[in-house]
Amino acid sequence: MRGFDEGRCVPSMRGEPAAPREHALAVVIHARQVNAYLTLALRQHLGSRDLPSAAAALVTDLVQGSTRQRSAILSVIVECARRPASEIDADCRDLLCIAGYDYLVRGTPGYAVAATWVDVAGHTVPRARGFVNAVLRRLTERPPAAWWEWLALPQATATQTLARRHSHPEWLVDGLREGLAAAGADPAELEPLLMANNRSPRVSLIVWPPGHPDQEVAGGEPGRYSPYAVTAGRGPAPARGSAVGVQDEGSQLAALALVRAPMAGRDERWCDAMAGPGGKAALMLSLLSERAGPAGRLLAADRHWHRARLTRTALARMARAPNGARWSVVCADARGGIWRPGSFDRVLCDVPCSGSGAICRRPDARWRRQPDELPGLVAQQRDLLRAALAATRPGGLVLYSACSLLPAETVAVVDEVCAHGEARRLSASAAVADLLGPDCLAGTDLWLLPHRHHTDGMFAALLTPA
Ligand SMILES: C[S@@+](CC[C@H](N)C(=O)[O-])C[C@H]1O[C@@H](n2cnc3c(N)ncnc32)[C@H](O)[C@@H]1O
Repeated sequence: MRGFDEGRCVPSMRGEPAAPREHALAVVIHARQVNAYLTLALRQHLGSRDLPSAAAALVTDLVQGSTRQRSAILSVIVECARRPASEIDADCRDLLCIAGYDYLVRGTPGYAVAATWVDVAGHTVPRARGFVNAVLRRLTERPPAAWWEWLALPQATATQTLARRHSHPEWLVDGLREGLAAAGADPAELEPLLMANNRSPRVSLIVWPPGHPDQEVAGGEPGRYSPYAVTAGRGPAPARGSAVGVQDEGSQLAALALVRAPMAGRDERWCDAMAGPGGKAALMLSLLSERAGPAGRLLAADRHWHRARLTRTALARMARAPNGARWSVVCADARGGIWRPGSFDRVLCDVPCSGSGAICRRPDARWRRQPDELPGLVAQQRDLLRAALAATRPGGLVLYSACSLLPAETVAVVDEVCAHGEARRLSASAAVADLLGPDCLAGTDLWLLPHRHHTDGMFAALLTPA
């Protein structure tokens, strides 16, 4: 046995799993056993091992890819196992799902999949080695394309077919279909959107303080839309002293939609009411420094202590410029009337949400989220938007944003608040239309779609208090 105790795939204190596939299995089993977020479990696992970068990339793909596509792969595995998923030992089920991903998605040849994963089973679930062998033999008897065809059930509805082929829960498929309709996109874009959710996202960087991205500094290609974005590449590491962070281009565009929107009157008191971990707040701070210099004030809040601390770190990094805007971070519930009414000129209301726009980044999110959580989230989002409007001066601006494409927590929240006469809707998309060019969707609100824009899915609406 190499690196595992008593046939269970828990990394042993005496050794470590040897091969990337064993590392991948250890991460998935550990995350399930302790109910950890997969991305965190993976980061911790890789952070405490010194794997060569190619091995780490393989571990990452096996872990994330097999989790994203878990339901489709599990359907095939169950067929090959000739027993329900609930009757397969949990560790063994994890192993078979990753092996299935290796074969069905990565296209590793059948003989290699069978040999390698039976070997891994010998180290991790030795009692099930024969079973794993039998399942993988049946799996690899058919080519991957035949299995993908097999997944399309003849009598199924469109939602069931898409959910099964692209490994999304049915409620999410329906929600994303409604989101595309709300964004004014073609219904035929649903399948490309689901496929985009199953791809590894590209890493997008931001170069702070604002300045045009310098490929030599950041080692990547300029972004598609944001003047501050750089796509991570294999070039040299960021130069010392340059401020480079990881931030999706969609998040940059949302912050820019608030900052660039025209507004009359004073423009020096800005607020990010739900700021953690501080990515958008950092961009806002650098742009506020440019616009208002030391007269500028940015207040950032987050309800959670550790998120407020991360925001403080992000802003402290920005605050080196001698004539920069002043800033402070508070740990507080933004619904709780923590600001005097009408204090701010521009307020970012970047609400906690289902994250349905960024599920390619959080491979387990689609399986963790349940539709019955939405009403609670929506109630919070409505309260947070109302509090943001109350904190904004007459004629000031609030940007309501969410990394979600579900209408319930995007347009519907804004529609309801506007219908009650509490706010007037302005155009968020107009504020960044020049950056998006022909890719800007028609309509007042800003919608970013992963399959079209290659960003996280985002929604943003611009409002002014009524
Ligand atoms: C979508 S994230 C914000 C991301 C952030 N704007 C950025 O770009 O880095 C939502 C944040 O809202 C915070 N939050 C949730 N409820 C809150 C509340 N009632 N008051 C203040 N912050 C809250 C969460 O802790 C979380 O950090």
